[in-house]
Amino acid sequence: METTINNTLSKLSNAELLDKINILRVQKNAVILAHFYQVPEIQELADFVGDSLQLSQQAANTKAEIIVFAGVHFMAETAKILSPDKKVLIPDMNAGCSLADSCPPDAFKRFIDEHPGHKVISYINCSAAVKTMSDIICTSSNAKAIVDSFPQDQPLIFAPDKNLGAYINSQTGRNMVLWDGSCHVHNQLTDEKTIELKITHPDAKLIAHPECRGPILALADFIGSTSALLDFTKNDSSMKYIIATESGIIHQMKKANPDKTFIVVPSDDTCNCNDCPYMKMNTLEKIYLSLKTEKPEILLDQHTIKRAQIPIRKMLDISKKSGLVK
Ligand code: 13P
Ligand code: SF4
Repeated sequence: METTINNTLSKLSNAELLDKINILRVQKNAVILAHFYQVPEIQELADFVGDSLQLSQQAANTKAEIIVFAGVHFMAETAKILSPDKKVLIPDMNAGCSLADSCPPDAFKRFIDEHPGHKVISYINCSAAVKTMSDIICTSSNAKAIVDSFPQDQPLIFAPDKNLGAYINSQTGRNMVLWDGSCHVHNQLTDEKTIELKITHPDAKLIAHPECRGPILALADFIGSTSALLDFTKNDSSMKYIIATESGIIHQMKKANPDKTFIVVPSDDTCNCNDCPYMKMNTLEKIYLSLKTEKPEILLDQHTIKRAQIPIRKMLDISKKSGLVK
């Protein structure tokens, strides 16, 4: 049965698929949220495109009955935690995250026990189980504001991204204990390739996501979340940028700045390693199927939802107070 549907769908053009999705999203009162790393056709289809913080804010406030999350698993899970009464669908249940996977809950629990007296700040790229062990969540948009919300002498654990944690340590003068995790997409971008691109394009500015390794961040003219990188290209006067993050962000950059040039940092010349394989698992076909069948659905037990809500809501409150979200 599923094979028949898939065979029929593979014969449809994008325009035909979009028509079908558009009928279903209205019929079912569904909202489609997409991260900046999605392929262009999904970004164009979505009701809202944004970074992790903006997407969680949208998920918390939506009036829709169904949320289709075109992103990765931890993002859809966060949407379910914030809107437990909504049906949250993810087009492909295998769309995970190497950074979230780098922090297994059992090992993290032991790590916390080894650091008594520490408060726990977890980057949103982690599982719901890790969120339940955290005092507060942050994203790359608000990490500094979240860390600054603790007294300077409060011992802190930062997990799971050691690159973002080290960057925030350098910005705040803290010495947070870092969990040894990273994103395989950002972590493999090399300084050699970045320097090569800077030499070839001396007129370009290098802008980087803080999940990149320290040596790349040290070379960057600007460091920020996906939305901050996009805003930088809109407000800055340069005509050329070298981009150290996942390639999906280029779509909105080109749309906003049609006359500017964007060059993505590769890890080497032989692969598309700056494409996040998890983000790119989502397709128009899978979005259509998830709306039609209302599967795969994110399901979480009540205890996890209630406990994980606390640190995420704290993050949203601080972000509101700091003017980072409305
Ligand atoms: P942003 O919150 O900056 O969108 O980052 C999400 C992410 O997964 C980066 O790899
Ligand atoms: Fe996770 Fe990295 Fe993909 Fe972002 S780019 S979703 S951190 S694997």
